[in-house]
Amino acid sequence: MVKPCFHVSSISSFLCFLFVTGFFVKSLVSLPFPRLDQIDILMALKNEFQILKCDYSKSKSWTRKDVKSFDGVKFDNETGVVTELVLFGACLSGSLSANSSLFRLHHLRYLDLSFNYFDSFSFLPELTKLTNLEFLDLSYMGLAGEIPTSFSSLNRLTELRLSNNELIGSFSPLYNLSKLSSLYLSDNHFSGNVPCSLLTLPLLFDLDLSQNHLTDSLETMNCSSSSKLATLDLSYNRLCGRILEPLSKLTSLKYLYLISQNTTDPINFVSLGFKSLEELDLSGTAISRLSIGSPNLGMLLLNNCSINEFPTFIKNLRNLDHLEVADNRLKGEVPKWLWSLPSLNVLSLSHNFLDSFEGSPKNILLNSSLVTLDLNSNAFRGSLPIISPRFIYMIASNNSFTGDIPLSLCNQSYLSVLDLSHNNFSGSIPWCPISSSLQYMDLRNNNLTGRLPDIFDKSGSLITLDVSHNQITGKLPRSLTNLKNIQFVNVESNRIVDTFPFWLKDLPNLKVIVLRSNMFHGPIYSPQHPLSFPQLRMVDISRNKFTGRLPHDYFVNWSKPLISIPREERGPQYVGYNYSSGYHPSMYLRNKGINMELEKILETYTEIDFSENKFEGQIPESIGLLKSLIVLNLSSNDFTGHIPSSWANLTRLESLDLSQNQLSGKIPQELATLSFLDYINVSHNKLTGQIPQGTQIGGQPKSSFEGNLNLCGPPLEEGCFGDKASSTPETQEPEPPKQEQVLNWKAAAIGYGPGVLFGLAIAQVLYLYKPVLFFKLFRL
Ligand SMILES: *[C@@H]1O[C@H](CO)[C@@H](O)[C@H](O)[C@H]1NC(C)=O
Ligand SMILES: *[C@@H]1O[C@H](CO)[C@@H](O)[C@H](O)[C@H]1NC(C)=O
Ligand SMILES: *[C@@H]1O[C@H](CO)[C@@H](O)[C@H](O)[C@H]1NC(C)=O
Ligand SMILES: *[C@@H]1O[C@H](CO)[C@@H](O)[C@H](O)[C@H]1NC(C)=O
Ligand SMILES: *[C@@H]1O[C@H](CO)[C@@H](O)[C@H](O)[C@H]1NC(C)=O
Ligand SMILES: *[C@@H]1O[C@H](CO)[C@@H](O)[C@H](O)[C@H]1NC(C)=O
Ligand SMILES: *[C@@H]1O[C@H](CO)[C@@H](O)[C@H](O)[C@H]1NC(C)=O
Ligand SMILES: *[C@@H]1O[C@H](CO)[C@@H](O)[C@H](O)[C@H]1NC(C)=O
Ligand SMILES: *[C@@H]1O[C@H](CO)[C@@H](O)[C@H](O)[C@H]1NC(C)=O
Ligand SMILES: *[C@@H]1O[C@H](CO)[C@@H](O)[C@H](O)[C@H]1NC(C)=O
Ligand SMILES: *[C@@H]1O[C@H](CO)[C@@H](O)[C@H](O)[C@H]1NC(C)=O
Ligand SMILES: *[C@@H]1O[C@H](CO)[C@@H](O)[C@H](O)[C@H]1NC(C)=O
Repeated sequence: MVKPCFHVSSISSFLCFLFVTGFFVKSLVSLPFPRLDQIDILMALKNEFQILKCDYSKSKSWTRKDVKSFDGVKFDNETGVVTELVLFGACLSGSLSANSSLFRLHHLRYLDLSFNYFDSFSFLPELTKLTNLEFLDLSYMGLAGEIPTSFSSLNRLTELRLSNNELIGSFSPLYNLSKLSSLYLSDNHFSGNVPCSLLTLPLLFDLDLSQNHLTDSLETMNCSSSSKLATLDLSYNRLCGRILEPLSKLTSLKYLYLISQNTTDPINFVSLGFKSLEELDLSGTAISRLSIGSPNLGMLLLNNCSINEFPTFIKNLRNLDHLEVADNRLKGEVPKWLWSLPSLNVLSLSHNFLDSFEGSPKNILLNSSLVTLDLNSNAFRGSLPIISPRFIYMIASNNSFTGDIPLSLCNQSYLSVLDLSHNNFSGSIPWCPISSSLQYMDLRNNNLTGRLPDIFDKSGSLITLDVSHNQITGKLPRSLTNLKNIQFVNVESNRIVDTFPFWLKDLPNLKVIVLRSNMFHGPIYSPQHPLSFPQLRMVDISRNKFTGRLPHDYFVNWSKPLISIPREERGPQYVGYNYSSGYHPSMYLRNKGINMELEKILETYTEIDFSENKFEGQIPESIGLLKSLIVLNLSSNDFTGHIPSSWANLTRLESLDLSQNQLSGKIPQELATLSFLDYINVSHNKLTGQIPQGTQIGGQPKSSFEGNLNLCGPPLEEGCFGDKASSTPETQEPEPPKQEQVLNWKAAAIGYGPGVLFGLAIAQVLYLYKPVLFFKLFRL
């Protein structure tokens, strides 16, 4: 809600001013200029704080010599006084004293101090010295206590923001602010009634009181109808419905939000008022009855409101454009009248118990004005209704639809999301070119047969294709190579008979490929088709019939994201995420010996699963290059030879399964250095010697090492021959603390820069010295 505002334009007008005055100082006296006394005040203000502008803004802090540097300050272009000051997130801390220079900026009209944390709030009453203030933002400041009574003299304020603080007590200091048009008081500790005097401030247009502890007690309010209030947010309070009657008299009210009221009794929302209401969100608030008189209602959100039946007043909402009734207890038929609402575009019925459509179900959606329909997780049976050609999102997942996927889907030129997953569709996927607008196609968990048709032409914009858990046969269609945007392909658990799709490497955005549980066969290595995937992070080709050896350099250029450490992203990013619909693919994964479902797939998640095939020969040494690998499963193959010792670089590895192979020799010591590795399974091989000791390996169950030729040491009960004498020097050293270990390896990675040998030498040094010393050495 709080937006930064740095007024670049004022800065550039300064530049212009400087340039011009350089030539015409005498002739252009009326041009904007910062008054010197104002600069003095700003410099004094700056000196009150150690920091001014921290990481939020990259600009330099204010300096007297450079007008450009007064970031966040706006001077009046005629008088040169400071009129705006934006210190949003400037990391001001300590205290703002009563005699602070800030209060000498008498001409301030706009002041934003949000996202700063002061020790004391004794300065608050001083703000009234700034009698010209029209805009004041004090949100996210940890303000505690009551709104100072002196605020009542800030009577020029048009906008006041006090959100996300710890304010309590009365709103009465605000009743005098007769020019106020926007007031934000959300996420505080206000309790008691919502006073009429607040709702009816003469010019108040937008009021946010959400996330407080407000109640509506027995005495009803008597609000005058002269209020201008258009937007009122009372979400996340403890209102129980008594407030509705007075609210219904606010004749200008257009947007009302009453999300998640913490009340025990359902609200009876029946009122003849609310004549102007355009948007109403009651999600999360239990409702007993609902009826609103407004003919203008365009958006009605009733998710999770404990509703048992469709409120019939909706029939009369000629302007309703967006209706959500998800997560309720609706059951039986969807009433016919819903489809004839003339303006309805978006409808969500997901997570109810609906099973059929009233009337002639097949054509029911054909004439409706809908473009988005969400039927997810209901009990719908029978065939899928034909949808109108205007549809953009069609979500029918997790129902019991049967029959063929309707051919009419071929005619959808705007469809972007098609999710028919978790149903009982049968027959084959229609052979028609898929619409160039389709981005997300999910048909998993049905009973589809026949082959995946060759329907993907160059105009396609598909990002996600999931046909997993069906009975699809034949080969993978080569036209998939046309899908330059595709990120996610999942054909798990079908009956596809094909060789390894080497051509997938031509898909520039492919991030996840799952071929698990099919009848793919033959080698995955070919000297004619060297593999180099530009974006691949997760590959699961397990449970097929792949064969052959992998050369030791197999992974050298295999996938860029697996070889490089991922960049730190701001917030999580997900594979195939569709911003406009909120849609993202999900997948099953075998990780740490458990089958799990990844609901969303983090861009930084990585996996290689080659298990349950017929690979033979050595595990390629180049596996050690896959620095960002998190899950590796090579179990149930015929790999022979030693476990390569190149693990030191795989510092992100969490799960390693090499069980059920023919591996021999010792378990490399390097595995014990991987600090994130918390699942390891090397059981049922021909390994010998001592199990390397380290915190991670020590925590593994015995079963992870069972069924080998001659392994010894914990967690197995077998002691090693000549136990103490034969143990390596490393195992005698106490394990270094985890944090230091991570640091060591980071440092070693820097060391690799100049040359591997040098790097290895450094790594040796590291083992013996503390990191601090290393950094000293390295700087020399
Ligand atoms: C000062 O700025 C206002 C708007 O910001 C503009 O209307 C006015 O013309 C400007 N005056 C001068 C002298 O530049
Ligand atoms: C404010 O007053 C205190 C004493 O009350 C003084 O130490 C401080 O320097 C003054 N600060 C300014 C900016 O005048
Ligand atoms: C309310 O505002 C009026 C003028 O608008 C002023 O005279 C009065 O003192 C103010 N009341 C308070 C409590 O500040
Ligand atoms: C509400 O206000 C009206 C007029 O302003 C007045 O006639 C009526 O008595 C008031 N009702 C209550 C319960 O205060
Ligand atoms: C609901 O209100 C009760 C007190 O009335 C409180 O204890 C509880 O934490 C509230 N629950 C939520 C989710 O705010
Ligand atoms: C529905 O609302 C209740 C509280 O009224 C809450 O506990 C629950 O998590 C909500 N369910 C969903 C699916 O949002
Ligand atoms: C759709 O509309 C057309 C004409 O507007 C009408 O003839 C037809 O019967 C309607 N179909 C359905 C299923 O309502
Ligand atoms: C499918 O729907 C059932 C109820 O109909 C629900 O319990 C289940 O969680 C849903 N599954 C998914 C994957 O949404
Ligand atoms: C799918 O159909 C089969 C028989 O046709 C039935 O046994 C099965 O329960 C159905 N599955 C679902 C999820 O409706
Ligand atoms: C697709 O649309 C065309 C004309 O718009 C129509 O002739 C054809 O029958 C439609 N095909 C399907 C499968 O609905
Ligand atoms: C899938 O379809 C086949 C026939 O095409 C049928 O025999 C089988 O029962 C179906 N399976 C399910 C789970 O519906
Ligand atoms: C670790 O990575 C570096 C560079 O990425 C590489 O040169 C080195 O050979 C790798 N080490 C091992 C043991 O694979």
